[in-house]
Amino acid sequence: MKSEQSAPKARNLTWHEAGITHSQRHDLNGHKSCVIWFTGLSGSGKSTLANRLDAALYARNVRSYVLDGDNLRHGLNCDLGFSPEDRQENIRRVGEAARLLADAGLVVITAFISPYRRDRDAVRGLFENEEFVETWLDCSLETCRQRDPKGLYKKADTGEIADFTGVSAPYEAPLNPEITIDGDRLSEEEAVNAILAWLQDREFISLR
Ligand code: ADX
Repeated sequence: MKSEQSAPKARNLTWHEAGITHSQRHDLNGHKSCVIWFTGLSGSGKSTLANRLDAALYARNVRSYVLDGDNLRHGLNCDLGFSPEDRQENIRRVGEAARLLADAGLVVITAFISPYRRDRDAVRGLFENEEFVETWLDCSLETCRQRDPKGLYKKADTGEIADFTGVSAPYEAPLNPEITIDGDRLSEEEAVNAILAWLQDREFISLR
């Protein structure tokens, strides 16, 4: 994790260095930490995949935790809507939360549409390069519309929901993601296995 912080509003603050280092936490856990940052349209399967990956890591003794958009909007982010500014603040807070959890030694898995490149890049900037794993769940709008698990695309079409990503608000696909999952073709199991293999190849985890 990078130690630089953004400039705080408050003054007269003193940064306290942690006594236990990042690498000590890695040694205790037996794996490194990172953030698997899922991004993709609503209905692309981010939450499902995030939870399947979490379960697969748990089964392999890897400490992981999921931060989910719909869930965090019930608590930490309950004051935010879907305007570009609110989405920016949503992603900023989640980025900071992910950074804390990763600093604590976890493999953090996030499931947020995070439609704006600039917001995702700002989160990337909080991490050492290899710790931020942008994972694009590349699923066509047609597939997401067909699935429409929460009936939201229908509501967006009739105007009942405004600013809906892919319909009345933009989605900026990643230009250079670390991992791309073909959400139209890969099964959930294949997608999870691809991510596990990626993590193992880069020695974030070692599968026993
Ligand atoms: S983000 O754009 O700020 O990253 P986030 O992932 O937290 O979004 O929340 C998206 C979830 O909120 C969707 O999965 C959907 O269930 C719900 N939702 C409600 N209204 C909207 C909307 N206008 N656009 C997108 N998602 C919405």
